[in-house]
Parts: sequence; structure tokens; C-alpha cells
Amino acid sequence: MENERIQTELPTRPLLFDFHGVSMTHHFTDNWEKVQSFQARPDDILIATYPKAGTTWISYILDLLYFGQSAPERQTSLPIFMRVPFLESDFRVLPPGTEVADKLPTSPRLIKTHLPVQLVPKSFWEQNCRVVYVARNAKDNVVSYFHFDRMNMVEPEPGDCNNFLQRFMDGKMVFGPWYDHVTSWWEKKQTHSKIHYMFYEDMIEDMGRELDGLCSFLGLSPSEEEKERVIRGSQFDNMKNNNMANYSSIPVMDFKISPFMRKGKVGDWKNHFTVAQNEQFDEEYQAKMKNTNLQFRTAV
Ligand code: A3P
Repeated sequence: MENERIQTELPTRPLLFDFHGVSMTHHFTDNWEKVQSFQARPDDILIATYPKAGTTWISYILDLLYFGQSAPERQTSLPIFMRVPFLESDFRVLPPGTEVADKLPTSPRLIKTHLPVQLVPKSFWEQNCRVVYVARNAKDNVVSYFHFDRMNMVEPEPGDCNNFLQRFMDGKMVFGPWYDHVTSWWEKKQTHSKIHYMFYEDMIEDMGRELDGLCSFLGLSPSEEEKERVIRGSQFDNMKNNNMANYSSIPVMDFKISPFMRKGKVGDWKNHFTVAQNEQFDEEYQAKMKNTNLQFRTAV
């Protein structure tokens, strides 16, 4: 009976619609006035990513860097979305980010967004906030997004792998085309010194090096011991086993279909793409990325 009750309360899958030229669902636009009028503070750190690029990973790292020593209990007592609010989400996805952020007692505030650069609330630019952007190679990003949409009932119905891939190439994804997202944040970085642009693949390759770069951007100088603690704490298995990081408390996600912390690897696309899909993807990729000098350094 209890199961039946939960089943009938599960949300219907939302539909995509055009929102300022970007595909969105109402879960991320119903709070729009509050999102756009959000008052950033100068020491806020905005974590910006395309969905499934490693948002939770970088959020966890930043939380450990800033609060791992002063408040180590946070990692095991507060869900990641209460430590790092999701700016544009409404209550059907997660506690609304604008409200959680307004009540955060700690500083700096770490705030997550998936918004394309042109939709970021202006106060983040007015306050000259630091931004940490993480990009992930397109093929692994789409695979991760596919499995996420399968298990997350507040995402549009993913359909089969082939349909999903086509939608990704057409840019009909929540938060718009991957291609535009990664390249417009990259362009913004060229004129805005307070954006630190990172790559998921680099983090997998050498977390120590990436952490050094991140700390230098943030003006932090943690001891070797502290860095080691951050690296160890944010390892995939540690996060996967931490209920405060793995989203297991979110009822709209069905972990029987796919867990949130799924594989955490580079190159999983090879287990998903057919030869024909890969050729088509490469062709579209070349065409869509031909005007940017943004390069993903890992061959995928
Ligand atoms: P996979 O689905 O490929 O496993 P986001 O947080 O932006 O939604 O991204 C989720 C993706 O990041 C998932 O990818 C997840 O497994 C991966 N991820 C999360 N924590 C990670 C970690 N500590 N190390 C490597 N990958 C991680």
C-alpha cells in the first residue's frame, strides 16, 4: 500500500519548452523572478556546469576545502544540496536554491548553477564573484545524462539511447545545447578573470595538480595534509558511499534504475555508442565546435 501511495505521487515527466532561446522544464523556470533578482555577495563562489559534468564532485571538493576542517561533521550530516544550494531549482527537484542560499549561515556561500552564461543573474557579475566552471567531454557527458534522465522522474522522458543522442546533438536538452554551454562559458572566461575553467578529465587524471590550480585561483594555501584530506574525501567511492553526497535521499530518483554516482570514469561512451552513432556524433561535433578554440585535451 505504502508503495502504491508513493507511486501515485510520483511526478509526471515534465516537457521541454523554449525559455529565452534555451530548452528548459518548468522546474527550473517557475522561480525565475527570484532567481534573476537573487542578491549575490562578493565572496560567493558560483559553481557552474552543464548537467552531469561533475557538479557534485567539484561542489564536494569546495565544501571540503572551505569547511572540512572547521566543520567536518557537515559531510556526514548535511545533504550536499543544503551545503551547496542549486540556484534555479524549485521545490519539486530540490529545496529551492534561492531560499537555501539566503539562509546559509556560512561564508563563503557555495552556489551551484547549470544556467548557460547568458542567463546567470546579474548580481554575480556586479559583485565580481568567483566562478568555478567544470566541463566534461561531450560523449561521456551525454551518456551520464542519459542514465540520469532514466532514473530521475523530474527530468523529461529520455526515450531510448539513440533518441537521446539525437536530442543531445540537436541541443534539445534541459539547459540547452552542451556545445553552446561549454563554449560560451569558455568565451566569458577570456574577458572575465574570475572564472576558473576546469575539465572533468583533468580531475580524473591528476587531482593533486587540479587542486593546486583551484586553490591558487581561490587564494587558498592549504597544507599538504589538508590537500590529501580533500583528495581522499572526494574520491568516487567515498562520495558514492556517503548518503549526504549521493542523493539517495531524493524520492524522485530511482536508484534501482541507475545510481546517481554511477561509474565516475572517462570513456564510458565506448560502452554505449555504436560505430555509426560515433561517426555521426563526430561529424556534428566538428561542425558545431569549428568556431571555438576550446579543446578537450583527453582524446575521446
Ligand atoms: P557518471 O554518470 O558518468 O558516473 P553531476 O554531479 O554534474 O550530476 O555529475 C555526475 C557525474 O559525475 C556522474 O558520472 C558521477 O558518477 C560523476 N562523479 C561524481 N562524483 C565523482 C567523483 N568523486 N569522481 C569521479 N566522478 C564523479
